[in-house]
Amino acid sequence: MDEFERHGIEVVSGRDACARALRSPELTSDPGGGSPSVLLRDGAEHTRLRAVLREIIAGVEPFPEPLRAGIETTVAGLGTSFDLVRDFARPVAGAVTSAVLGVPLDDVFLDHLEATTANLDVSGGTDRAGQASAFRLAVQLSRTPAGPGGLTALREAHAAGRLDDDELALNPVVLAHAAYENSLNFLACAGLELANSGPRSVRELVTAICPARYVLRFGPDGPVAISLAGGLPFGLGRHACPGSGVAVAEGEIALTALAKVLAGGCRVGEVRWKTHPVFHGLEKAVVTLASGNR
Ligand code: HEM
Repeated sequence: MDEFERHGIEVVSGRDACARALRSPELTSDPGGGSPSVLLRDGAEHTRLRAVLREIIAGVEPFPEPLRAGIETTVAGLGTSFDLVRDFARPVAGAVTSAVLGVPLDDVFLDHLEATTANLDVSGGTDRAGQASAFRLAVQLSRTPAGPGGLTALREAHAAGRLDDDELALNPVVLAHAAYENSLNFLACAGLELANSGPRSVRELVTAICPARYVLRFGPDGPVAISLAGGLPFGLGRHACPGSGVAVAEGEIALTALAKVLAGGCRVGEVRWKTHPVFHGLEKAVVTLASGNR
């Protein structure tokens, strides 16, 4: 919160006030500057773009069986000592993101995706390294041959006149980042909760962890940071997360598999947190299973 106040940004907190702000016609997601990102626009253009992304996300609903089996195999194969970020959350969130887009994503891609965090407005913002990563991924995806899935669907929507050139260039990265970053942070934090305190439902965990702590809006008096930590982990209103069903299914599959791995007891060490003002997550947390557990 200090971070926002330091920049003169008003903070709205408390569930009711935040719900009102998220539904307010006075507050827009569009900072000006004409970004083609679905996250940074409002009105008819947002509705059109969001409809295309929603159709794409429906392609992994219900959760595809081969994807479920792949996640279960990855988690069951964790060794006797593993990092909840690198070895658990990253491969799971990476596999789901890859399925959403319909392209394989390697570690270099995921590194750049993490570096783009909150800097998806290539034409604005101030983090040059984040912008460079977003730009690089946009170029890479524009040249990637794609099978059935989100990238092909975005290209088809462009060919049908539903997206313009700029929207086609940026939104594959926006979709990849949306599907990856919050899930990565959620899964690692939820894994830590599981290791320290035992099982809880995914809905309870996502509300308590709230991986996206704030969303930014722009009003007549300047920018406003709306807190989601009072019980709105997927936001609300026009921009509410269209992937929440996928995120919950992914969490249920991965955390159920992790609970089996942790069933014999474990200890946790080397816990380090990220320091981003919006995206709440772990940098690292090493779980070591009780001896003889595997
Ligand atoms: C635990 C995991 C997740 C959390 C906590 C989360 C949270 C959010 C939040 C709070 C927003 C609203 C942003 C705003 O109002 O400005 C959002 C938007 C979005 N999310 Fe998620 N999300 C998660 C996973 C996913 C997944 C798995 C997908 C795709 C399969 C996805 C796709 C999107 C998209 C496309 C948007 C932009 C919607 C728009 O601007 O209209 N998210 N997410």
